[in-house]
This record gives sequence, C-alpha cells and structure tokens, in this order.
Amino acid sequence: KNVAIIMGGYSSEYEISLKSGQVVYESLDKNKYNAHRIHIFKNKWIFVNELDEEFLVDKNDFSVLVNEIKINFDCVFNAIHGSPGEDGFMQGYFELLNIPHTSCGMYQAALTFNKRDCLSTLKPYGIKTAASYFVNLGDVVDENAIVNKVGLPCFVKANRAGSSFGITKVYKTEELQNALDVAFKEDDEVIIESFLDGVEVSVGVITYKGEIKVLPITEIVSENDFFDYKAKYLGQSQEITPARITEVQAEQVGSLARKVYEVLKLKGFSRSEYIFKNGEPHLLEVNTVPGLTAASILPQQAAEAGISMSDLFENAIEEALK
Ligand code: DAL
Ligand code: MG
Repeated sequence: KNVAIIMGGYSSEYEISLKSGQVVYESLDKNKYNAHRIHIFKNKWIFVNELDEEFLVDKNDFSVLVNEIKINFDCVFNAIHGSPGEDGFMQGYFELLNIPHTSCGMYQAALTFNKRDCLSTLKPYGIKTAASYFVNLGDVVDENAIVNKVGLPCFVKANRAGSSFGITKVYKTEELQNALDVAFKEDDEVIIESFLDGVEVSVGVITYKGEIKVLPITEIVSENDFFDYKAKYLGQSQEITPARITEVQAEQVGSLARKVYEVLKLKGFSRSEYIFKNGEPHLLEVNTVPGLTAASILPQQAAEAGISMSDLFENAIEEALK
C-alpha cells in the first residue's frame, strides 16, 4: 500500500508537525507499507523522496509524478497539527477524492479545532468547562466585562490554534490588551477563559483494533506558569503516566474522554485535556491530530499500554482503510 504521510501545514505548528511526520515515517514497517513523505506548505505541496529530492504534488487527484512514474496513494497518514490538517480542510479534500485518511472526519475536525464551538457542543452533555468570553478581531473590547465574567487570572487563547501558540496567562486587567494582540497573531477569534486551579491531565482515546480505547492518563506538571510551548517541547515540564490521581478519578476522567470521543463521533487519534477543579474534571480542549514526536504525550500513553509507536501508527492506517 502507498501511504502518504502529510506534514507541515500553514500554522505556527508546522515545525512540530514535520517532527511528528518524520517519526511516523521512520516507525512504519517498510515491508508492510510504501511510506512517502508529503510536505504541505502554503506555497507548495511537495513529495520528498528517500534522497530528499522534491516533486510537486498534483492537487487535482493528490498524485505525484516521480521520474515519470505516477504515484497514487491508498491512504493518507495525517500528521499536520493546526490548519489545514486539524481543522477539516485536508479531511474534506481527501473525502472528496475518496482517499482514506487517519484522522476524524471533516466536520469533526472543524468542530473540535474551534475551542468555543467544541466546548459549547459538549456542555449539554454535562461536561464542565471554564467560564469564557469570546472576542472577534475588530470588536470593541470591554476589559471590565471580560474580567467580571472570567475573573483573574485568566487565559487568553487563540480560538483555533495549537501547541499553546497565542496563549497568555493574564493576571491584571492592564495586561489583557497585549495578550489579545498575541492571540490575534494566530487567529482572528479569541477565547478568554477563567483560570482553573487543579491537577491537569491529558487523556488519549483512540480506535484500536476496532474498539474505542482509553489510554493510560498523563498528569502534566509544568515548570512554567502553565503548560506553554517551552513546557511542551523544551522539557520544561514533567509528564507523568499514569497520572498520580485516584483510581476513581482516573475512571471518571477516562469515561468522560470516551464520552467526548463518542458524542463527537471521532475516529483515529484524540487527546483531550482536563483540569480537576474542586474534584471535578473540566474540559479544556480536544486535539484530533495530537503530537507524535518523541516528546509528545500520546505515544508515551500508548507505550504505557504496551502499544509501540509502529503498532500505534500501523493500527491507525488499518483503521482508516476499513
Ligand atoms: N497540538 C499539539 C501538536 C498537540 O496537541 O500535541
Ligand atoms: Mg491543543
């Protein structure tokens, strides 16, 4: 089978995605799959061969002409975090072309990538979230109204972004405007959420051999003020799997993550984040193309469950091909 591993993307997360994609490329058994790397950048989509030579992808049918031989793909392994791989665009494109892909569907990706819409869809199912306030680029900002609603400290976040790009923890009303400017660099929508004080956990849920499986839970202990980019990727955090929570709490947050997966009709990978506030898990967000680098959480959770990287990625391909 020809598998195209797509990586890169148009957002600030492209570097992380290139790492995730490369890890997938190196983990797939070359006897089972013809794995190929495709770099998706705004100005060009390119196929990169073993010699790191580049060939342009034909967007009409997602094929590539390599030394006069046309290659079509049987499956796409989606390793693009952020736009256009985690927000539905690539999903929609492959769904139109009838090429199976490892991520959830177009609508699910678009919904989960929008923090506000994802959280408000889940609220009626009894899933707790932080109090929040929404701002569009160009809106007149009433700082007092924001602080009255969410309190201080609060988090200012790009509504559609990942890897903590565009996130600031704000302690004083005067810091709000600057934080909004930072968030608006990533997206033209911003969500401001109240600070939830408590233990933070990350829950991986995947479809594994035909069944929805909740992976061992990871506790996140950031050395920084929150789980920011440096904490995520430059080792400034401890990620403890299994989390040091009670069995009852693990069961509670694990079932919640499974419910999120089921309610949203997700497929493939997912990793959702929660903070236990007053003993109750509050959902922060759902990632449908979670990081797959050596430093990323989902592969660590899979390892704890006895699932190797190769097994994790090959299973995703097999599930996509079903
Ligand atoms: N957005 C990053 C890649 C993650 O969720 O792991
Ligand atoms: Mg995220």
